[in-house]
Amino acid sequence: MADRTRLTTTAGAPLSSNQNSKTVGPRGPVLLEDYQLIEKLAHQNRERVPERVVHAKGWGAYGTLTVTEDVSRYSRAKVLQPGAKTEMLARFSTVAGEQGAADAERDVRGFALKFYTEEGNWDIVGNNTPVFFVADPYKFPDFIHTQKRHPRTNLRSATAMWDFWSLCPESLHQVTILMSDRGIPTDPSRMNGYGSHTYSLWNDKGERFWVKFHFKTEQGHAHFTNEEAEKVIAKSRESYQEALYGMIEEGRFPKWTFYIQVMPEMEAEDFEKKTGWSAFDLTKVWPHGMYPLIKVGEMELNRNPENYFCEIEQSAFNPSNIVPGIGFSPDKMLQGRLFSYPDAHRYRIGTHYESLPVNKPKSPVAHYHMGGTMPFGLQTNPDAYYEPNSFNGPVEDPSVEEPPHRYAGQVGRYDHRGEADHFSQPRALFNLFDDGQKQRLFHTIAGAMQGVPQFIVDRQLALFDQVDPAYGAGVRKAIEEQGRDDAEASLSTSHSAAAE
Ligand code: NDP
Ligand code: HEM
Repeated sequence: MADRTRLTTTAGAPLSSNQNSKTVGPRGPVLLEDYQLIEKLAHQNRERVPERVVHAKGWGAYGTLTVTEDVSRYSRAKVLQPGAKTEMLARFSTVAGEQGAADAERDVRGFALKFYTEEGNWDIVGNNTPVFFVADPYKFPDFIHTQKRHPRTNLRSATAMWDFWSLCPESLHQVTILMSDRGIPTDPSRMNGYGSHTYSLWNDKGERFWVKFHFKTEQGHAHFTNEEAEKVIAKSRESYQEALYGMIEEGRFPKWTFYIQVMPEMEAEDFEKKTGWSAFDLTKVWPHGMYPLIKVGEMELNRNPENYFCEIEQSAFNPSNIVPGIGFSPDKMLQGRLFSYPDAHRYRIGTHYESLPVNKPKSPVAHYHMGGTMPFGLQTNPDAYYEPNSFNGPVEDPSVEEPPHRYAGQVGRYDHRGEADHFSQPRALFNLFDDGQKQRLFHTIAGAMQGVPQFIVDRQLALFDQVDPAYGAGVRKAIEEQGRDDAEASLSTSHSAAAE
């Protein structure tokens, strides 16, 4: 006992026993006055916080972002200046599975980064794909419902997924990536990360540039086929946790090269005129041929968390966390996410989630928010609790105001998909695949369509035909080869045979 820390109550009082409840005689009932028993049971009932509504299963580690190149002509952000080294946290995730889901499932992977910069936290909350399924935040909750469980069967529904995708041609690009070889990376270190949205950078001269963020794996891409993944899952549901944790413990630190694509502010209109794609459409990339990758530096993960719950489960990433020199763009999806994430965190881990150690900025924080559940830390200047004040409270700094955006237009609910070209970019991707990749794509899609009603399959095949007739034909042939299993269709559509 002499050299061991003394066990205490949460209020700090020493405890005589942590083995035996307080009872009336050795066989008697327990007493209400055994407040430590009650405390232990009550704490246990509160051990979980709600899981993330999406991206519930995740794996994370700390690391460093090092800027090796000079991109100061684009941004004044200190984190992007030559030589800057910034501590960071990464959390990778799957989108649809719950917290207990198997790691090696086919899904998009989250790629969330938090940089603890000297000017506040900067978060890039991206994915391992450069595009997304939908182009409007209005559609996000519906899309996610199709990825989660059917309300009646409580099973995942291939019918719902393909119904939604086939009715939303903007999803074709992302669906093709998801169903391609890159749909199941072998572990988090073997995939790229993308900010995906168009953000902006602005420099000391007040010039703005639209920007895309790319993190390319230095370990090389590695993927499982469906069959390989099934074998992995049969052995372990935690293969990503084992891989990421293990490689960092062994000193094999995973690295990514950090690149940006940059578009001068006034070129966005020209880009749309030339290509037919909006520079702010999350379902499209900027072709490298037009906007080459510009190297910025390197990201390395080199430290495992000590406590998964406190540091990874309670981590909270916000696309709205930017720092001077980095800004948003008119991308509708990004605009929707700016609201959604802080709101999700307040619900999931509390009003003051940003004061939790893992989320706490390493730079000074000074604001006038008050009260709420569990505010950590005391105000150091108690008389300055409103603003403006005459008591030396924190004041605004106009020097960090970003240059004004040039927005004009009439308010309306515009159908921005109407005439858009949803086919050329998936076609460019399809043409990158060799024969083997194409065959695996066809078979993966055919397998994922098992049990889906024919009218939905036909609608989706017509979209694949528009990408490339060989794409539609390949999937048709794979469906024929695999044969149809209508079990799922009867499970999920009997109440809603909306074939017409
Ligand atoms: P490029 O040939 O210059 O770039 C192709 C890109 O595709 C590379 O970044 C490569 O990533 C990536 N890629 C290769 N194989 C796959 C795959 N199986 N699944 C997903 N990505 C893959 O062409 P463009 O820039 O003109 O783009 C052509 C198409 O490539 C796009 O329509 C898009 O689908 C895809 N793509 C484009 C990106 C961009 O930002 N321009 C980014 C990622 C994909 P890597 O170097 O890691 O192998
Ligand atoms: C997690 C909403 C699109 C990447 C989440 C969460 C919400 C959410 C509510 C859970 C947050 C939490 O509880 O911590 C939305 C909405 C979207 C959208 C409303 C569209 C309008 C996207 C896109 C990407 C993305 C386009 C990638 C480019 C992520 C990642 C996480 C996440 C990586 C997990 C973050 C973590 O590791 O904690 N999203 N999302 N999301 N989202 Fe989105």
